[in-house]
Amino acid sequence: MPVDTKDIFAIVEKQNEWRGKQCVNLIASENTPSPAVRSIQLNDFMGRYAEGHPNTPEKINRYYQGTRYIDEVETMAAREMRELFGCAQAEVRPYSGNNANTAIAMGWLRGGDAVIANSTDAGGHISHNFFGIMGRRIQTRGQVLKPGKENSVKLSFFPLSADRYHIDVAKSLELIEKVRPNLLVMGKSLYLFPDPVKELAPLCRQLEIPILYDGAHVLGLIAGGQFQDPLEEGATWLTGSTHKTFPGPQRGVILANLDAEGEKKYWSAADRGVFPGTSSNHHLYSLPALVVATREMKAHGKAYAAQICLNAVALAKALDASGVPVEAKEFGYTRSHQIAVNVSAFGGGVKAALALEANDIICNYNMLPGDQDAQNPSGLRIGTPEMTRFGMKEKDFAELGELMAAAIRGKAVKDQVHKLRGRFLDMQFV
Ligand SMILES: Cc1ncc(COP(=O)(O)O)c(C=O)c1O
Repeated sequence: MPVDTKDIFAIVEKQNEWRGKQCVNLIASENTPSPAVRSIQLNDFMGRYAEGHPNTPEKINRYYQGTRYIDEVETMAAREMRELFGCAQAEVRPYSGNNANTAIAMGWLRGGDAVIANSTDAGGHISHNFFGIMGRRIQTRGQVLKPGKENSVKLSFFPLSADRYHIDVAKSLELIEKVRPNLLVMGKSLYLFPDPVKELAPLCRQLEIPILYDGAHVLGLIAGGQFQDPLEEGATWLTGSTHKTFPGPQRGVILANLDAEGEKKYWSAADRGVFPGTSSNHHLYSLPALVVATREMKAHGKAYAAQICLNAVALAKALDASGVPVEAKEFGYTRSHQIAVNVSAFGGGVKAALALEANDIICNYNMLPGDQDAQNPSGLRIGTPEMTRFGMKEKDFAELGELMAAAIRGKAVKDQVHKLRGRFLDMQFV
């Protein structure tokens, strides 16, 4: 006898209606996958395991039987990724961006190692900080290591230029010489401008320090040729989420070009970090969807990524013109899918984000460089990927900017927001 599920189905239906059709979604880390990406995820792989690598005619690599079709899917997903990013290696088993980073940290770092990363108040992801894998316990030879103790990971942060939106290259080179870290982590969560990979990579190569470029946010922009190309610029690994600017299923990926002698050790570290380091089943059901999304990005990624970036600048200009200041104006506001809005004059980030949500405009409050209190920051982080996918262009974002400025000032604009959203319900770039 089936159990009663009406209540839970009703909640899901409300979510589908509200966030799917009524809201203007501006969370920079979110997206709506295409109908094909969504529908292919309901499959038999949902309950299966496939530890290890795909079997080949020559070798049994899996630790389970019954994997012939996931072997095909995994091989295909890695090939599609390599083709899209023009790289030599692709690891498609991580089930999220954080999991991909954790796998590399687990496979590469040992207790007592030193790391340089972007600090949280400069936009770095919290998982790069003491609370995440970089600062947490790393076990080696059976010992549990603690942050702050002699044998824990030693974490330093990149020095910043005066505007605090860019890494100071000269000071970072000095820091690398001084600290001689075992790993550099670049890439951020509040990510407006590219990190100086090509400026730091030559010294890192000379000192044999690998660079983990966390492209969680910008993976789709990189695929579309709209942001820096980290592997080309000298990063050792490029990790990413496959569900932010890359509009696929919620998963992660590790990409690299590590064929040269002396560099293979970096790929084997990532490999053992993924399995058995940080995963066992790798959420098999969503891997076919990654193949679909990768093909969508091959076909439409360039146009999609270009429009995302144009829209971000258009929204920044509109907000600024409406009296809501947008950060980094002197640098053209942004080179990515995000803008950082300074709402300290309007009661701070939390108040402004709630005022927008009350009008069905969804974004998140965010620390701006220099903020100390993550619970009471002065900014909003706003992203254009999702609404771009539904066809909004520069003039539509300009219209949205005016509505947002009004909502931040306390005006009720929900009806206008619903009307605007109602014009953009059909998915593009699929
Ligand atoms: C820079 C960065 N890395 C990693 C993550 C975590 O990604 P995921 O949710 O795919 O684990 C985020 C989340 O937004 C992020 O901003």
